[in-house]
Amino acid sequence: MSNFRTFILGLVATFGLPWLLLVVVPVIKYQGLAPAAYDKDKDGVEGFYPPAPINGQGQLVYIREGCAQCHTQMIRPTQLALDGWRKGWGQDQEARPAAPVRSNTLRDYLGEKYAPLGFIRSGPDLANYGWRAPERGVIHQKLYAPRSIHDWSNMPAFKSLYIVRKAQGPASSKALQLTGKDAPAEGDEVVPTPEAEALVDYLLSLKKDYPIPGVSAEVAAAAAAPAKK
Ligand code: HEC
Repeated sequence: MSNFRTFILGLVATFGLPWLLLVVVPVIKYQGLAPAAYDKDKDGVEGFYPPAPINGQGQLVYIREGCAQCHTQMIRPTQLALDGWRKGWGQDQEARPAAPVRSNTLRDYLGEKYAPLGFIRSGPDLANYGWRAPERGVIHQKLYAPRSIHDWSNMPAFKSLYIVRKAQGPASSKALQLTGKDAPAEGDEVVPTPEAEALVDYLLSLKKDYPIPGVSAEVAAAAAAPAKK
């Protein structure tokens, strides 16, 4: 009988403790979080952090389409200040800032019911995509025909978010500028659905590197690029 009791206690400890520490405690901690106020003198900005919410409608499309399978939205803290390995994370191979501005904090995700942190870093991290995004038309083109921008891309095309229709009268200002084999048949045009528009609004709202209250601009800059002398 005492063996049985030990067995049950063992089970509770094996499953219950990790559940408590990995699920219950973080949930309670996260739910208690509120936007933090900036101090005008110290931070040089007014208002609250994070200052702008993400686009929730577009986030639903992002989650449904499985973008988080390949894209993360989480820049990890450095380990022992060894930062070299993450140089360039969040960018593709083009000329862009060499280091991410800072690693993410819990508050970066305030206001998001589900934060799509991502599973695999197969594509670039999108935590700060809103800052480096090209204009809307180019983002739509990326989603409709990724290889029309990078011929080596293995990102799938999300054609179901677009409508191919007969062009009537003057071309729609929203029609995608496609060339070559991606271009629609003569007399047709490709236009984004409202879902595609929401998704692009969401991508443009991804700016998870606002200054953190109490951390001065210099500290943030030093933390972002410790390797740079
Ligand atoms: C199978 C993996 C995969 C999936 C799923 C995927 N992507 Fe990508 N994505 C990539 C890869 C790889 C790249 C980098 C190559 C390129 O630019 O095409 C990329 C690039 C991007 C870029 C450009 C990033 C930059 O820094 O310029 C955006 C924006 C993007 N993806 C958005 C999305 C969205 C939105 C979805 C969901 C609708 C999605 N991706 C789904 C693999 C994926």
